[in-house]
Amino acid sequence: MTKKRNIIVGQSGGPTSVINSSLAGVYSNAIERGFHKVYGMLHGIQGLLDEQYVDLSTQIHSDLDIELLKRTPSAFLGSCRFKLPEIHENREIFEKVFEILNRLDIDSFIYIGGNDSMDTIKKLSDYGILTGQPQKFLGVPKTIDNDLALTDHTPGFGSAAKYIGASTKEIIRDALGLTYCKPMITVIEVMGRNAGWLTGATALAKTEECEGPDFIYLPELPFDLEKCLKKVRALLKKKDSIVIAVSEGLKLADGRYVCELSGGADYVDAFGHRQLQGTAAYLAGYFSAEIGCKARSVEFSTLQRSASHMASRVDIDEAFMVGGAAVKAADEGDTGKMVVIDRVSDDPYMSSAGIYDVHRIANEEKVVPRDWMNREGDYVTKDFVDYVKPLIQGDYQPIMVNGLPRHLVLNKRQKRK
Ligand code: F6P
Repeated sequence: MTKKRNIIVGQSGGPTSVINSSLAGVYSNAIERGFHKVYGMLHGIQGLLDEQYVDLSTQIHSDLDIELLKRTPSAFLGSCRFKLPEIHENREIFEKVFEILNRLDIDSFIYIGGNDSMDTIKKLSDYGILTGQPQKFLGVPKTIDNDLALTDHTPGFGSAAKYIGASTKEIIRDALGLTYCKPMITVIEVMGRNAGWLTGATALAKTEECEGPDFIYLPELPFDLEKCLKKVRALLKKKDSIVIAVSEGLKLADGRYVCELSGGADYVDAFGHRQLQGTAAYLAGYFSAEIGCKARSVEFSTLQRSASHMASRVDIDEAFMVGGAAVKAADEGDTGKMVVIDRVSDDPYMSSAGIYDVHRIANEEKVVPRDWMNREGDYVTKDFVDYVKPLIQGDYQPIMVNGLPRHLVLNKRQKRK
């Protein structure tokens, strides 16, 4: 077979526990399709602009490495949160990217990321078409937040939801064991910025032998602190341990983040997103002071996106599938598009890869529909849980060495500069 030109792949935005499965899907498919070289950008477009990239054949040597990569959390190639300017604002930066791509004989540029990263695909493909460049630009969906438009769900979400559901069960059990003679409030903080998909996933803890969290507050609705306090007081008359799940992005009716009340939202990234942290800690302190009982906060923080020991098999397999589908699409001539996951059926669960114009996806946020929350706005409905359940199924056990998961780690000596 005559060798095709080269392909380059990058990872961008918040990592997930399955983002490297998509990288493995891109690599395996590109090799199968006869691409000559598969380059990896180090730290996404930001690293590429600095000529930081690696030939992936120096990193992946065997099928075992592919298996390790699929099970390795966080971005193997390194990630970034870098916003490309509008084309008219700074053409030089685009000229620089294309100079590098042409020098490396790149045919296809694949970017694994969320809505901000799809902005990069959109701008590069627009510039490429405008200036008659030969490259094709394809997006591979990725985000634990599950907030990308037009795809049924995003790779990374299922595994994070599985970790969140399992950990919420464990937190509930832990708290139950300690309530003899003293009430206890536990507030769990979950990521997801403006979308409550992950926070809603705490409802998965409600199973035959577990009551699940008592209240779930998503960022889609304004949060009423006093109303919540009232509900907590009332429930404490009936049970000793109360577990409340809150989104990191919970906002008051006046638009302030709850975490701002304790001063915890100062850092703002290139896309204007505040670092949200401290919502649960603030609320636990507030309940403790108002009610006079023990209250604890638990922040899942980066654990929810890196817990590869709790990865869902469905998620790992789909992450691999969308990586491969992007290479196929590029190879067949598509550009300016993102691969999506279409849910084919729920029982048995089946999905397939589709494709959409990235202009319809970049910078959009898909939030939880109002009718998937209860009327009070303090829990999710059965429809929500039925939607998430298939995505957390199956395990993909880590390769254990000396009792701990083994990861594939970048060999920096092979780095190109
Ligand atoms: O984009 C995914 C995400 O995990 C959000 O849920 C969260 O707000 C954000 O990343 C945190 O990002 P960082 O690790 O850059 O603080």
